[in-house]
Amino acid sequence: MRGYHDASYGDAFADVYDEWYHGISDIESTTTTLGDLAAGPRVLELGVGTGRLAIPLAATGLEVHGLDTSAAMLEQLAAKDGSGDVVAHLGDMVDAMPDGPFGLVFVAYNTFFNLLSATRQQQCFAAAAARLGPQGCFVIEAFVPDPQHDARSGVSVRSVAADRVVLSVSTSDPERQQAEGQYVDITESGGVRLRPWSIRWATPAQLDEMAGAAGLQLRERWESFDRTPFGMDSERHVSVYSR
Ligand SMILES: C[S@@+](CC[C@H](N)C(=O)[O-])C[C@H]1O[C@@H](n2cnc3c(N)ncnc32)[C@H](O)[C@@H]1O
Repeated sequence: MRGYHDASYGDAFADVYDEWYHGISDIESTTTTLGDLAAGPRVLELGVGTGRLAIPLAATGLEVHGLDTSAAMLEQLAAKDGSGDVVAHLGDMVDAMPDGPFGLVFVAYNTFFNLLSATRQQQCFAAAAARLGPQGCFVIEAFVPDPQHDARSGVSVRSVAADRVVLSVSTSDPERQQAEGQYVDITESGGVRLRPWSIRWATPAQLDEMAGAAGLQLRERWESFDRTPFGMDSERHVSVYSR
C-alpha cells in the first residue's frame, strides 16, 4: 500500500484499539500459559500495542519488556500502566529488538504478519532466536491461512450508529500471501478518518521452516493459549519454538 510504513497500523488504531479489540482473545489463559512457558523472569512482547497482554503479564511478577514501532500505541500503554511495570521500547521487531537474554519472546494475535515479506519474517525469527536464554522459547499466535481463500476485494460494515459509520475495505492477493485494507471511520463531527492495515500471512509449515533456519524447532502447537489441541480444522494456532 503506497505510503504505508511500520508505524502506520499502530498510529492509525491507537485511539480505538482497546475499544475495538479488547475481547479478541482470552487474557487469563494467555498470561497463564505465557507465564508457564517463560524460562526466567525477563520476557519480551513484540508489537506490544496498548499492553492488552503485557500489563496483566507484568502483574504476575515477570519483568515484561514491550517493543512497538508506534509511539501512539506506547502512549496508550503508558497511560494504562499506572505503576510503570512494562518496560517499553520504541522500535521495529526486526531491527531494534532489545538485548537478551529473555526466557520468552512472544508475538500475539497475528502481529507477526505485520512484517510484510518472508525475508523480514525470517529476520525476526533470527533476531528472536539470538535473544533467547538457554531454555527460552519464541511463541507465535496467528491465524491459519485458508488454502481456499480467493483473491477478494470487498467492502463490509463494521458498525453503524446515528452519528458514525465504520466501513471495512479490503483486498487480498493469495499468491503473494498478502492482504491489505482500510477501516473508513466516518463521523458527523470529525469527518473521515482512514485506518489502514497490511499483512503478509504464512502457514504453520512456513513458520516451522523459518524457525528451523533460525536454529529453532517446534516444541508445542495448540489451537489457543488454553492449550486446546491443534488439529486439521483449527483456524488459529499458538506455536512454541525453542532450540
Ligand atoms: C494487532 S496489534 C497487537 C497489540 C498487542 N500485541 C495485542 O495483542 O493486543 C499489532 C501491534 O504491532 C505493532 N507493530 C506493527 N508492526 C511492527 C513492527 N514492525 N515492529 C514492532 N511493532 C510493530 C503495531 O504498532 C501494533 O501496536
